[in-house]
Amino acid sequence: MVSEKDKILVAGATGGVGQLVVAKLLTKNLQVRALTRTKAKAASMFDNRVEAVEGDIRYPNTLAEAVRDINYIICCTGTTAFPSLRWDFTNFFQPSNTPEAVDSKGVKNLVAAAPPDLKRLVFVSSAGVLRKDELPYNILNAFGVLDAKLAGEKAIVTSGIPYTIIRPARLIDGPYTSYDLITLLRAKTDGKKGVKIESGDCFGGETSRIDVANACVESLFSDSTIDKDFSIVNDGERPKNIDWLQLFSRL
Ligand SMILES: NC(=O)c1ccc[n+]([C@@H]2O[C@H](COP(=O)([O-])OP(=O)(O)OC[C@H]3O[C@@H](n4cnc5c(N)ncnc54)[C@H](OP(=O)(O)O)[C@@H]3O)[C@@H](O)[C@H]2O)c1
Repeated sequence: MVSEKDKILVAGATGGVGQLVVAKLLTKNLQVRALTRTKAKAASMFDNRVEAVEGDIRYPNTLAEAVRDINYIICCTGTTAFPSLRWDFTNFFQPSNTPEAVDSKGVKNLVAAAPPDLKRLVFVSSAGVLRKDELPYNILNAFGVLDAKLAGEKAIVTSGIPYTIIRPARLIDGPYTSYDLITLLRAKTDGKKGVKIESGDCFGGETSRIDVANACVESLFSDSTIDKDFSIVNDGERPKNIDWLQLFSRL
């Protein structure tokens, strides 16, 4: 089980889920290293309380410093499912930050760079990876995002690294990307729906980024999540406190 001695790399640390993962790890007094493409962005977002290392998962030679002496990786990287500026159209005819480049090849690069004794890789994937022929996932997959996520998942599962794969539905809450650390630490799901978790790829609906981040971090404290993949969605009445260990015990 994770402890204060461990160092956790958060890939995609400046993204909607990643920033909440970082904030949650800090509240648990865990050591965080943020993998970011822009160090200054991470420094201001996390008030310099987090070690930030620059790297781009498309390029394996940029990852060595990020993974050095790391015990856990939480991977929250991603790009848009449909063409957008985030695809990086520097070459108009060949965008370079596509789902294939990030969610498939980028994740494979991260897996290849991971230390051999990594204790766990937690991966934020997506609902629909195993239901690509069904609505609305066939539309979502028009540019291959679910194919790429599934390829990323397969690279993780076959790597031999202990893993946890989390498949959220449409993300809500955040991204709080223009906020500071204090705001992130206070992000709450009060008044929202409860959390449902089930093995496999089975839910549609909405999932709070706050709960995805909580699931990423809490899974490090549960042996029930080792080598598991699960769907997560917000549904039903929300209890005062979510009992993550109990939710995970059903996997
Ligand atoms: N949106 C949805 O409804 C939905 C539903 C299911 C699953 N998901 C998945 O959930 C995950 C988290 O979503 P989110 O809203 O937190 O995403 P987000 O806000 O777009 O964050 C994505 C993160 O990935 C980083 N990134 C992108 N390309 C990279 C690269 N080449 N190298 C290194 N880092 C890179 C970005 O860093 P920069 O700051 O450098 O750009 C950013 O920190 C994503 O994997 C997404 O596919 C989303």
